[in-house]
Amino acid sequence: MLEIKSITVQYGPVIAVKEISMDIRQKGITVLLGANGAGKTSTLMAIAGLNDLSHGSIFFEGKRIDRLPAYERVRKGIVLCPESRLVFQKMTVMENLKAGAYTRKGGISGEFDLVFSIFPKLKDRAKQLAGTLSGGERQMLAIARALMSKPKLLMLDEPSMGLAPNLVVEMMAAIKQINETGVTVLLVEQNAFSALKIADYAYVLQTGKVVLEGSAEDLLQDKTIVEQYLGG
Ligand SMILES: Nc1ncnc2c1ncn2[C@@H]1O[C@H](COP(=O)(O)OP(=O)(O)OP(=O)(O)O)[C@@H](O)[C@H]1O
Ligand SMILES: [Mg+2]
Repeated sequence: MLEIKSITVQYGPVIAVKEISMDIRQKGITVLLGANGAGKTSTLMAIAGLNDLSHGSIFFEGKRIDRLPAYERVRKGIVLCPESRLVFQKMTVMENLKAGAYTRKGGISGEFDLVFSIFPKLKDRAKQLAGTLSGGERQMLAIARALMSKPKLLMLDEPSMGLAPNLVVEMMAAIKQINETGVTVLLVEQNAFSALKIADYAYVLQTGKVVLEGSAEDLLQDKTIVEQYLGG
């Protein structure tokens, strides 16, 4: 569905991502793992059109997209839910969700049903101002808002960051549920174990390069890999 061919991302002289290639399979969950500064966010931003490539190309559903502006990639169904959990603080939960559907034509009631079934907490808080939500609820809202645009490919940048362990489990279950509705997921995580449990395939980044890739199952079973790359 998404083919990343030897892409390089630079910030001036700093090479954040060096000639990496990935193949994101349709309807799967692919996880991108790696330590701080490995280049995970830079990769997602390049796919979303928020970072330029200095080398390589990106294909989505067979068509080259790496020169399209970010908004046109959104229209094609490529949506990024960034690390920062940005929500419109002065707007209610409901208004935030409606804002997420701005690219949509036609009815969005089906999407409301879907996001409220995945994140029932948001339904209880529909009229609450987003700025008064807890960090975890804000993360749910950011993802729910991304879902309102009916993405084909949903990219999530560290959705479990800062969540208590039981909420990490809930968040992974929610991502699995989203995936089961037919949305392809590209997940960036530092919580390697929780992410691998729901993922089909994984790539491990180290200082801007793919140092390892394989099925999530294989990676979880290989003790030396777990110790070496995934922090024991
Ligand atoms: N706007 C920028 N200007 C200069 N350097 C940057 C910029 N953004 C990122 N970098 C550098 O690029 C490298 C990769 O950063 P990136 O944010 O992609 O890593 P990451 O894997 O997402 O890390 P983290 O787990 O901490 O979020 C880092 O060395 C970082 O300092
Ligand atoms: Mg990051």
